[in-house]
Amino acid sequence: MLNPVKVGILGLGTVGGGTVHVLQQNAEEIARRAGRGIIVTHACAKELNKTHPYTTDDIVLTEQLTDLVNNPEIEIIVELLGGTTIARDMTLQAIANGKHVVTANKALIAKHGNEIFAAAQDKGVMVAFEAAVGGGIPIIKAVREGLAANEVEMVTGIINGTCNFILTEMRDKGSDFADVLAEAQRLGYAERDPTFDIEGVDAAHKLTILASIAFGIPLQFDKVYMEGITKITPEDVQYANELGYRIKHLGITKRTKKGIELRVHPTFIPNKRLLANVEGVMNAVLVESDALGASLYYGAGAGALPTGSAIVADLVDVTRTLTTDPGNRVPHLAFQPNALVDLPIVPIDEIESSYYLRLSALDKLGVLAHVTNILSDNGISIEAIIQKEPIGGAEHVSVVMLTHQVVEKQLNRAILAIESLEGIIGKVTRIRLEMLAS
Ligand code: HSE
Repeated sequence: MLNPVKVGILGLGTVGGGTVHVLQQNAEEIARRAGRGIIVTHACAKELNKTHPYTTDDIVLTEQLTDLVNNPEIEIIVELLGGTTIARDMTLQAIANGKHVVTANKALIAKHGNEIFAAAQDKGVMVAFEAAVGGGIPIIKAVREGLAANEVEMVTGIINGTCNFILTEMRDKGSDFADVLAEAQRLGYAERDPTFDIEGVDAAHKLTILASIAFGIPLQFDKVYMEGITKITPEDVQYANELGYRIKHLGITKRTKKGIELRVHPTFIPNKRLLANVEGVMNAVLVESDALGASLYYGAGAGALPTGSAIVADLVDVTRTLTTDPGNRVPHLAFQPNALVDLPIVPIDEIESSYYLRLSALDKLGVLAHVTNILSDNGISIEAIIQKEPIGGAEHVSVVMLTHQVVEKQLNRAILAIESLEGIIGKVTRIRLEMLAS
């Protein structure tokens, strides 16, 4: 057998530790799969004297990132720094030095992937990023290689465990968003600054990557429409239940006649769908493609060992192909770099969707008739409607509707007109609805 491949890890936190642990625990099996051993020889960590729960005796620890990316002995750099500034510099420097890179950094790939892959292409090195989407779920490999025969039509994913945990708890316990968020932070599921997760930025990074490998388009993070879960109320969760739906925070990318849709937002989905039953911090991605039909990929979207699993799988992939002619490797974004097409991204007000609407109306003759007239004037057909009795002598009632499919700008027009009606109190709540294939 050849000498082991030497790996340097930038960032020895939770995921770095998980990676070292998986490599140590399954060293023999990994070597049998890869054709040679894979060992971490160097790591860059902030706290060098921290006691790690795995063996670091054979690992040279340093605080200097450049000690690793400029070290000629190291063949593969694992980038686990997070962020997009130092991580970008180190990745480009490693590539310039002829090293392969494995990364879990979705923000880095979503924002700078086009530049990084072009640099890697020039140097004939690989940049692997399985851990960037869906944690341990091998979704990149599945879409890029397993579905290579297919034309992909749509990818829909629960790709942020924090949002899924919060929405699951809100449904199970009837709690407010803010209370569940505080609980998630206490349990360590949500970051102290949870903005990226709850505002949909993390999911948008991941969706950007999925769209590129599904449709062969350049990475375009800045074109993703993003909505988080902060405005979801227990009332909406309850109405979803009554109507036979669940609210999930989804990343959706779809091929349409107008172009590619790229959107992240809370979504009503029928409660019988498999995605509706993905609970807690788990992730799942549904792919609809022409030859296979619907296929679903489910698993842990975060955590030391699951993410370590994805990183080590990339290390095995890179190790196997070290001697392959770079032109014959699997392309970074699934399609050959010169075959990427710049399909238009559909602006959010041009998408077609069904909708859940909730409004507060004065309990007076004719108010509802005005609302339904506005909807029909805008070509919006109502699929279901619920009006609740006024609570405790209140003058207003909640009215909830599900609509058939309509272009979003038409719905927005109707909402503005409804909000200006005399008998309507406050804003109309609007949540998109997708029936999904499976
Ligand atoms: N913060 C992410 C989530 C995990 O909540 O799913 C890492 O991508």
